[in-house]
Amino acid sequence: MHLSERAFCGELAPADTGREVVVAGWVDAFRDHGGLMFVHLRDGSGIIQLVFSPEETPRHICERAAALRSEYCIAVRGEVRRRRPGTENPGIRTGTVEVMATELEVLSESEALPFTVSEKGMVAGAASTETGHVTEDLRLQYRYLDIRRPSMHDNLVLRHRIFQTVRRVLDSKGYVEVETPMLTASTPEGARDYLVPSRLHQQSFYALPQSPQLFKQLLMIGGMERYYQLARCFRDEDLRPNRQPEFTQLDIEASFIDEEYLYELVEELVVEMFAVGGISLTRPFPRITYAEAVDSTGSDRPDLRFGLRFVDVTDLFDETDYSIFRRIILRGGCIKGLNLKGQSDRLSKNVLQNEYAKEIAPSFGAKGMTWMRAENGALESNIVQFFNERELQGLRERFEVADGDVLIMIADPAYDVVTSALGRLRLHLADRLGLIPADSFCPVWVTDFPLFDATDEGSVTSSHHPFTAPDRTDFDPNNVEELLTLRSRAYDLVMNGEELGGGSIRISDREVQQKIFAALGLTDDDVRERFGFFLRAFDFGPPPHGGLALGMDRTVSMILQTPSIREVIAFPKNRSAACPLTGAPASVKREQLAELGLLDLGGREVPPDAAEREDRVDRISWLSRIGVAPEEHPAMEIVLDQAEELALLAAKEAGELEPMYSVVPVVNRTRPGTVGKRSESAETGDLLKNAPSLKGDYFKVAGILE
Ligand code: AMO
Repeated sequence: MHLSERAFCGELAPADTGREVVVAGWVDAFRDHGGLMFVHLRDGSGIIQLVFSPEETPRHICERAAALRSEYCIAVRGEVRRRRPGTENPGIRTGTVEVMATELEVLSESEALPFTVSEKGMVAGAASTETGHVTEDLRLQYRYLDIRRPSMHDNLVLRHRIFQTVRRVLDSKGYVEVETPMLTASTPEGARDYLVPSRLHQQSFYALPQSPQLFKQLLMIGGMERYYQLARCFRDEDLRPNRQPEFTQLDIEASFIDEEYLYELVEELVVEMFAVGGISLTRPFPRITYAEAVDSTGSDRPDLRFGLRFVDVTDLFDETDYSIFRRIILRGGCIKGLNLKGQSDRLSKNVLQNEYAKEIAPSFGAKGMTWMRAENGALESNIVQFFNERELQGLRERFEVADGDVLIMIADPAYDVVTSALGRLRLHLADRLGLIPADSFCPVWVTDFPLFDATDEGSVTSSHHPFTAPDRTDFDPNNVEELLTLRSRAYDLVMNGEELGGGSIRISDREVQQKIFAALGLTDDDVRERFGFFLRAFDFGPPPHGGLALGMDRTVSMILQTPSIREVIAFPKNRSAACPLTGAPASVKREQLAELGLLDLGGREVPPDAAEREDRVDRISWLSRIGVAPEEHPAMEIVLDQAEELALLAAKEAGELEPMYSVVPVVNRTRPGTVGKRSESAETGDLLKNAPSLKGDYFKVAGILE
């Protein structure tokens, strides 16, 4: 059979009736009706039904067809026929036609599959085939089979179309795609670098780029004026569902422009990208300052698909007799709340008090939560008697209360605690009460970020990166208080509570850039060593410039509404930054390390069991779903050693004793007579600070641990 003349399965239509075609692909599903065989053949374009009929197909071909199994790769010649009325299958695009087979060639066989690939039912009316529960690691281990599934295949095709759209739009506006190096020096974006050792320059390392930031600015100084790149970036940071160690950015930079130009450009692009997925967005996108976003939603990534904006009620309680509020206000604190309109049926006193006030709000960092329900024109709660009528009337007016409403309020001396805890409650409640409309997309520009964040050591770090222009340049780089009042000319594009992209107008003046480095505490030597080449470029007429990077994995995932960005990446890493398909990262031979000069770094031999010990921590971190930062590894090693020691001791002590099953109280068998103490870290919240989700003092893990 000449495969070069093959027709695509998904493109056959009634107009092809009577045509002799060659089709090739994989056996998606088959049904044997006692000699009459039906096969769903799948290729990259879709599915076509093949018929092997004892009346029309040569006998030896029917026999061969009877031996077909799922995912055999085959080629078939046959005639396109219209299906008999009543046997059409609306579940597939070609459901009104079929191919009556006359030849069959098995191109390659397939072993039994680790999971079902087929997604389409063969019988009319059966929408899909039961695929069952498959763990993500198994899918990633056999990603090539996973990609055969039409839904994964479609995700990658749509991703490609979105990328094509980006290229088309930017090309039409004079943007030039330029590739920047992967083996480079460190680019600061706030994460750790992935380092690549150099064989030719022993004990020296390249860094994989966290972003092309420095190069795109150098391209502006090089006069490129309009640059873009669909750039692969690498960041060694704690993983979250929307993060990958390597990911793709649409990186843009332009000269002689301002913020308005970039908003316009990016909005047009984003509208076109979402249109590929059939989603229409309205322009212009709204804008909100960082301060407003935090003040009204508790987040710099505000989810605007639903209301529940915060209302500040601090001033209503200036003279209150309610001691908790009075003390908080005296300490300069604030009280904010939100109104859950008409939700009192779904939020009983019991739920509000025992779940939210006692458990959920404290797990979000609040020391307490005040709730009130509006019934029969009055506000009621467990503490309503402490408020006078003027205060209650103030609340009714401020929150525009009607019967059936539920108010929740958080008060704390620290503004950040109020906004962050109430912000998390806002999201929790919106999700629980189903207040987030499906299929809604609410983009918003967040602007006027602080230029710097304070560190615990009393210094500052860049809240974006150190190349972002400040709102004014007359600051003293040694005055931390003043530095913290500076705003940046940065902007983030946020959608549905997720940061899709971010960028800024850059510093294009050498003196200002140097001042920022000084503010960050970099010495002249540090600056010369790390950024000397970059600063030097500013001696040669840098143009004013700015840009932005859009996270393409996040954007495509949002357009396709997939639960994680891994669904739109062909070969992603799993949740512990590993690749179950290739086994990366893996240990390497000592000879390889020796060749790279890595056996003896700084005079210290790498302990022979170092890799094994690392793995142990990684494995436990993966099982418990708690990220362990590299600097926490040594401490974790000690804990594991102690646990091992204790387990051995306990095993020795227990001897042949039957295991004891107990709930509470338990006896301390290793130190009899001692009473359990609560860890200090538990009191400060440090103990569970990395846990993905908390309930009181417990952290939640997935129901099934692979
Ligand atoms: P930033 O660090 O904000 O900016 O990154 C831009 C966008 O990239 C996406 N992103 C990620 N996506 C998946 N996995 C990750 N680990 C990850 N980290 C970031 C996000 C984010 O908004 N150089 C600047 C841009 C600029 O100033 O022009 C930068 O990289 O969607």
